[in-house]
Amino acid sequence: MWRFGAILASAFVLRATAAVVPTWGQCGGQGWTGPPECAEGAKCWTFDPYYSQCLPYPQYWPPFQPNYWFSFGDSYTQTGFSPTGTLPYDQNAIGNPPYPGWTSANGENWLGFAATKYNNSKIYTYNYASGGATIDAALVPPYAPTVLTLKAQVELFLSGAGRRPRETDWGISNSLFSIWIGINDLGNSYYMGGDRDAFSDQLLDAQFALVQQLYDAGARCFLFANVPPTDRSPLILGQGQWAIDTLKGVIDTYNAKLKVRVQALQNAQIGYRTFIWDTNTQFTKILDNPAEYGFGDVTVFGDGPEYFWLNDLHPTTYAHKLFGEELGKKVLADTIW
Ligand SMILES: *[C@@H]1O[C@H](CO)[C@@H](O)[C@H](O)[C@H]1NC(C)=O
Repeated sequence: MWRFGAILASAFVLRATAAVVPTWGQCGGQGWTGPPECAEGAKCWTFDPYYSQCLPYPQYWPPFQPNYWFSFGDSYTQTGFSPTGTLPYDQNAIGNPPYPGWTSANGENWLGFAATKYNNSKIYTYNYASGGATIDAALVPPYAPTVLTLKAQVELFLSGAGRRPRETDWGISNSLFSIWIGINDLGNSYYMGGDRDAFSDQLLDAQFALVQQLYDAGARCFLFANVPPTDRSPLILGQGQWAIDTLKGVIDTYNAKLKVRVQALQNAQIGYRTFIWDTNTQFTKILDNPAEYGFGDVTVFGDGPEYFWLNDLHPTTYAHKLFGEELGKKVLADTIW
């Protein structure tokens, strides 16, 4: 913007110098055709999609402009957020319920840690994740009809915040969309007969059709988390070698296919910016060397800093802290989130 102005200035000196908005004047908004630059001492603040105004800087400048995080997932991610309750605000970046929300970790989960402790900016988090979620009930029904599948979560987003109401004024470049799904889809189907490979393709078709819907609504930055090694959870360890080996095989294939799909989005060069959080590798590293991370026996569960598993399928908040740190400080290190 500034460079363009400088080029114009050499040809139309008088015009270029006159084309700034005086302090308190409008500098943007839907249909605005005037200049976007403010007079010295002021900066253009966007109130909503319809109106921006030159405010004296820094005296009248609001303290921050939030970035956004729209999250979709299952119990590993849920915080109990309701989009019809209190929305994220300065003192509570996850909106409702009060931080850290209702998690499966008996405390802060990875999303809470990543958004409030390992974050690079002030982030407003809208977390649609629902415990027990699968991608689509038509493919793998969740354990109860009240569970919001990924499909239902995306619908909820699209009919609400997705329409960019004034109170959720997200933009293409300041919004991250994360999807951590597949744990229940595979956990509730790996033991079935039939072609598991082909079924993974079907699951991914369904997931990426939803990604396309988000893209159509303006989403561009996506974080995909793959399926962690739940074959190493106490739940599956208790079911014997066949269960362990079979689930591991299905997860590995699914994750390989997920990676190919994400790379295809990136390669399509239609504006996608994608990140992969390889939770499977991170979990495996910790489970292979628990002592290095302060954990004891990772084949049993309990609540306390020495446990990785809180119950037979869900990690403790102590493990989630490591997840949030990896995500915030490595995967998203060079981003605004
Ligand atoms: C990270 O989030 C917290 C909680 O919302 C906020 O207080 C803090 O300022 C954020 N960090 C940065 C670097 O913006």
